Amino acid sequence: MKILVTGGTGFIGSHTVVELQKEGFDVVIVDNLSNSQKWILDAVADISGVKPEFEQFDLADQKLTADFFSRHNDIVGIIHFAAYKAVGESVAKPLLYYRNNLVSLLNILEGMMVHNIPNLVFSSSCTVYGQPDELPVSEKAPIKKAESPYGNTKQISEEIIADTLASSNLKAIALRYFNPIGAHESAKIGELPLGVPNNLVPYITQTAIGIRQELSVFGNDYNTHDGTPIRDYIHVVDLAKAHVIAVKRMIEKQMKNNFEVFNLGTGIGYSVLDVINSFEKVTGIKLPYKIVDRRAGDVEKVWANPAWSNTELGWKAERSLDEMMDSAWKWENYYAKKNNITTKKR
Ligand code: UD1
Repeated sequence: MKILVTGGTGFIGSHTVVELQKEGFDVVIVDNLSNSQKWILDAVADISGVKPEFEQFDLADQKLTADFFSRHNDIVGIIHFAAYKAVGESVAKPLLYYRNNLVSLLNILEGMMVHNIPNLVFSSSCTVYGQPDELPVSEKAPIKKAESPYGNTKQISEEIIADTLASSNLKAIALRYFNPIGAHESAKIGELPLGVPNNLVPYITQTAIGIRQELSVFGNDYNTHDGTPIRDYIHVVDLAKAHVIAVKRMIEKQMKNNFEVFNLGTGIGYSVLDVINSFEKVTGIKLPYKIVDRRAGDVEKVWANPAWSNTELGWKAERSLDEMMDSAWKWENYYAKKNNITTKKR
């Protein structure tokens, strides 16, 4: 059975392709390589033994997307990862984010309608909850006004999917990710930010390996145990496995209704300093960091109530924060060695 994975050479996409292949699915990837690299296909093949089918084009292009669907009549489900995801950039370039993230979704839904492909798994985000009134946050928590155009694209996308499903036979599962980090145990695939990383863990590993001078910790005056913000960090392989379970749930017709939403988190919140401490413990490296001002738009604390995913989806995050740090560090070193990078800027 063939699954279309959009954004399949990206961070979460590539790990999910490996897990799909392990479970016997065929995969076709569509990616415009705007934030990923083609050699990831070889790395995936190295891990799984199978090179996924690949087409490079932009899913925001209606004609190319329609043409793709008319050439592939054997797709049984779609996992739609392809999207821009940098919060700060979305504030600076909102139209870029709305056009890319929303138009590509419209084109995919149109393809599903025309070619009778009933199953969609959509990459959503805990950002839809904003700063929740109650913690841990469950799927029933209200959607808060988005803090950024990026967050708004996730909210609007969920609405577009719900409206489309209401008037068709399509089915969808939206997976709301908390903070995906870490890398595959082989260290052959991982997070590969272009330029200076926005996210915490790639910044930590790049600092430790000498590409960045020191980590800036954005604020230590939050109402948390050590003053730094709390997130629910989740290992990318745990996250990837949830996608395979979601795809099977759809194909095996186990869904309770035609649009389901699940939180993907561990249920445990860690502060920025907890993450640094774990990294230092696991690697034995003293990480240079300084406390600076808060970053605009950061929420104070958010972590998941994963009970619904645990019971209904039958999925549970298994990997610890230490394992996340260990795998992220091994990946950083593998990549540095592969590219002969020492302190050179990427
Ligand atoms: C954000 C988005 C999330 C999105 C994710 C991917 C929100 C609320 N969350 O997650 O939806 O999917 O980006 O891009 O918009 N930190 C530092 N120093 C750094 C970097 C980060 O101290 O150099 C801190 C941040 O203040 C935050 C934590 O580390 O408390 C995690 O930050 P980050 O990895 O950027 O993820 P989020 O902002 O939680």
